[in-house]
Amino acid sequence: MDANAKKRLAAEASLEFITPGTTLGVGTGSTVNQLVDLLPGIRDRIDRVVSSSRATTRLLEQQGFEVLTLNEVGAIDVYVDGADEATKRLHLIKGGGGALTREKVLAGASRRFVCIVDDSKLVGMLGEFPLPIEVIPMAQEFVAGKLVKLRGRPVWREDFVTDNGNHILDVHDLQIGNPIELESRLNQIPGIVTVGIFAQRPADVLLIAGDGGVRELRA
Ligand code: 5RP
Repeated sequence: MDANAKKRLAAEASLEFITPGTTLGVGTGSTVNQLVDLLPGIRDRIDRVVSSSRATTRLLEQQGFEVLTLNEVGAIDVYVDGADEATKRLHLIKGGGGALTREKVLAGASRRFVCIVDDSKLVGMLGEFPLPIEVIPMAQEFVAGKLVKLRGRPVWREDFVTDNGNHILDVHDLQIGNPIELESRLNQIPGIVTVGIFAQRPADVLLIAGDGGVRELRA
């Protein structure tokens, strides 16, 4: 089965978490795009929709959904999103698509965070995928210097501006043995808006699609 078919399978498996009356948060990326394709089929179960990026908002609107802001809905029942890496402890690296800040806000505001991935994303330790960090542009070099001191190799994602008008540093060569601690430590550096480690608020459910079907892990 190719990666796209697995993404579709993971997206299909997430539908059972969307029950009647759900305020749904929708993440960003190719796996979530498969979910957006499926949402018209369960429209009657969805009360309200919030999106984590302009790209996802556009797709949801194309499917006829009215997209509300988090300020309007207050809280999210179920947030469904993909990941770049995931561990069995449901810690994640996210932000490959650059939407990490709004994704982290929606994950934080959700009662249940369902993460959908194909099995290539499951890792023993986070860090092989370069860690995305959103920074305020004027602080980019300062933050990069701090990351080098932590033995990371930050690379500026050129020609990319986030939905919040900021830049992304992709940090290579980090072996993230303690994601909760590193997330916390990086959060202290002035100029960092959001770190792509999702460990302090991990997923509640991880749906991993592989050749043999979908495996479900829970926190
Ligand atoms: C976007 C993200 C995505 O969830 C992550 O990059 C996975 O994307 P894809 O489903 O395309 O592999 O964090 O900021």
